[in-house]
Amino acid sequence: MTYNVLLHGATGETGREILDGLIEDGSFTIAALVRPQSVEKPATKALEKRSVKILVGDLANQTVDEIAALLDGYETVISAVAAGAQLDQLKLVDAAAKAGTKRFVPCGFTTISPPGGVMSLLRGDKEQVHERIWYHHLPYTIIDTGYWYQISFPRLPSGKVDYAMLGDHNTFVGNGDAPNLLIDKRDIGRLTARIIKDTRTLNKRVFLHAEVLTQDDIWAIIQGKSGEKVETKHASHDELVAKMHAARANLEANPSDTMARVAVWTAEYDVSKYVQRDNTPENARYLGYLDTKELYPDFRPITFTAFIDELLADKARKLYQDQFEFLHK
Ligand SMILES: NC(=O)c1ccc[n+]([C@@H]2O[C@H](COP(=O)([O-])OP(=O)(O)OC[C@H]3O[C@@H](n4cnc5c(N)ncnc54)[C@H](OP(=O)(O)O)[C@@H]3O)[C@@H](O)[C@H]2O)c1
Repeated sequence: MTYNVLLHGATGETGREILDGLIEDGSFTIAALVRPQSVEKPATKALEKRSVKILVGDLANQTVDEIAALLDGYETVISAVAAGAQLDQLKLVDAAAKAGTKRFVPCGFTTISPPGGVMSLLRGDKEQVHERIWYHHLPYTIIDTGYWYQISFPRLPSGKVDYAMLGDHNTFVGNGDAPNLLIDKRDIGRLTARIIKDTRTLNKRVFLHAEVLTQDDIWAIIQGKSGEKVETKHASHDELVAKMHAARANLEANPSDTMARVAVWTAEYDVSKYVQRDNTPENARYLGYLDTKELYPDFRPITFTAFIDELLADKARKLYQDQFEFLHK
């Protein structure tokens, strides 16, 4: 059986993994919804070479009827849109309801946290999209994931892993004993391909992860594998919470400042993961999520130690480079 899937955000960090997962699975005909200003991007051109049909759509300026016409014929719509563009999905949801989409996968793909919790900015936007789905009685699957391995490792003093570093991850929070769901981002696509073919996941939240590790575990693995001692900074829970409040105040004073927004996302993730301890399998089950480890017991995810081996062998990839290069051309 072949399924027609429309992917929104196919050129992004999450979207590229979903695209790879769908292609590897082999049972999907895939189209990508691309903004007019992104049609000439090398990453968009590369989609065509992989037999992905490009549908140009402008959620900001086109009507719901125009977007619904683009969605016609696609049973499944998946959004993996940039964190700052979550509310663009409201029109996509309206259009999917109009087009009779059989399963809408909104842009979840984030860590486990409760609606109304400390992740007020990112989770708050995502929950608005969920409410719009439920308003329309639109069939859906919400997929959330562990925090990516690719942004979970600390810097080594030799500089050996700098080539793949994004941000500063050398701050040890409290005793470093908060457990967190983690995943190699490449497994997100493989699991998403399974989830969207599975009737058990319709109208459900699903979480996917490979491992549950503390910072203490991560330090032990990378130090053991590299033979280097991580230069560790320390932060208390109170310091993290104060940083989050300061970041929120700064964004309130500078609402169009992208970096201020990024600082709030980062600070809220930190408090959610390390202070609230939201991002755990127990909390996911408490919030009603299905667990892909139970749904697909045969699936063998990439382990954190395997990822660290790749990282130390210079085989990892720095994230968001394509977008960065395009912006700075
Ligand atoms: N679990 C984790 O550790 C983790 C880490 C990072 C992110 N995430 C989650 O993953 C989700 C996707 O984030 P990402 O970082 O993968 O996305 P990203 O790389 O920033 O993806 C950008 C994609 O969004 C598309 N897009 C459409 N409208 C846009 C707009 N108005 N502004 C900017 N881009 C727009 C872009 O398409 P064009 O081709 O049209 O430019 C591009 O394909 C986020 O919701 C975030 O919560 C999770």
